[in-house]
Amino acid sequence: MRWSTSSTPPSTPGCAVPEPILDVRDLTVRFRTRRGIVTAVDGLSFTVAQGEVLGIVGESGSGKSVSMMTLMRLIRDPNASVTGHAYFRGRDLEVRDLLALPESEMRGLCGREIAMIFQDPMTSLTPVYTVGWQIAEQVRAHERVTKKAALDRAAGMLGEVGIPDPARRIHQYPHEFSGGMRQRVMIAMALTCNPALLIADEPTTALDVTTQAQILDLIRRLQAAHGSSVILITHDMGVVSEIADRVLVMYAGRVAEQGPKSAVFHRPQHPYTWGLLSSVPNTRGGRVRRLPVIPGAPPSPLEIAESCAFGPRCRLRHDACAVRPALGGTGDHVDACWLPRDDRQQLRLQIAQAAVRRDQPDDLEGATQ
Ligand SMILES: Nc1ncnc2c1ncn2[C@@H]1O[C@H](COP(=O)(O)OP(=O)(O)OP(=O)(O)O)[C@@H](O)[C@H]1O
Ligand code: SF4
Ligand SMILES: [Mg+2]
Repeated sequence: MRWSTSSTPPSTPGCAVPEPILDVRDLTVRFRTRRGIVTAVDGLSFTVAQGEVLGIVGESGSGKSVSMMTLMRLIRDPNASVTGHAYFRGRDLEVRDLLALPESEMRGLCGREIAMIFQDPMTSLTPVYTVGWQIAEQVRAHERVTKKAALDRAAGMLGEVGIPDPARRIHQYPHEFSGGMRQRVMIAMALTCNPALLIADEPTTALDVTTQAQILDLIRRLQAAHGSSVILITHDMGVVSEIADRVLVMYAGRVAEQGPKSAVFHRPQHPYTWGLLSSVPNTRGGRVRRLPVIPGAPPSPLEIAESCAFGPRCRLRHDACAVRPALGGTGDHVDACWLPRDDRQQLRLQIAQAAVRRDQPDDLEGATQ
């Protein structure tokens, strides 16, 4: 795997706002495959502020996991090539480019400063060791403490994430825990060293709704208690609306839209975000309608066009869309679309009205005909 080598963060002259804890710039990840070059992440830029929860949403294959695994330096594929920067400000206030750090320094940061929770807890938990041992080892990898102190810490952490009788359960193996409990164990392990940044990649997808709500509540409470920042990846706009402070909508490895949650939910600007939001079930009553879908499928990552990636699915496309739109907008709320800003809410309204009239999927294809 090739990594970019520069580790010097560009200065921000006259910048009065606090530096973000993570500043990702122009991250691109490509894989050389037999069928050609797969562009999984295509010039992704975003920031995460101190104590903030950033929700990342997007369809399957949009590059959410690859981008996060790249930040954690977990992409082991020798055919991967990575460019861009990911400036991370640790608790010591030193800024480091995660993509250019030597492996040894990166290992020192992982767990202590940055931790990741995966969709499947068994990818992080080893079946042959007790959960207490695994959490204690995580502590001892970063702190000089005795085994006994580390095990006590593990029990305390299990209690904090809501596992009953933690002093007994630290001696049990992962298979003795239910799916939701294992997810809690993984959260306990991730939070043991009080990381400045927690990355959670679909941490609740495999869980029932009750457990999902408990896990989300847990992440939120622990994040508030420890002042950590969180990146939460999910397919579920409902989850984002509950837990995120800001939202990043990804499409085909790029940013389609990002901004504060209230802005993205109340004044979404990108036709793809409109589609995502209109496919969220309405739980406030009213007539039951079939859930709308976005027609078509995301483009193949083997064929990255220089046009708007959403173009083939967007009936609002026009001549300008043959050129890749740059991110633009007002303040913190930006999107990549050529439509005139003043016209967008009107167009969205027309689409919604057309869907109600037909009482059928308000896909973007049909709504503007
Ligand atoms: N090692 C690899 N070699 C080739 N292509 C890869 C490799 N790893 C990931 N990809 C491709 O990169 C793209 C992005 O994958 P990624 O796992 O980031 O998607 P995702 O947004 O996390 O999707 P999901 O919501 O299903 O988890 C996909 O098209 C995937 O097939
Ligand atoms: S740039 Fe064009 S094709 Fe892309 S979302 Fe906007 S209108 Fe649709
Ligand atoms: Mg994924």
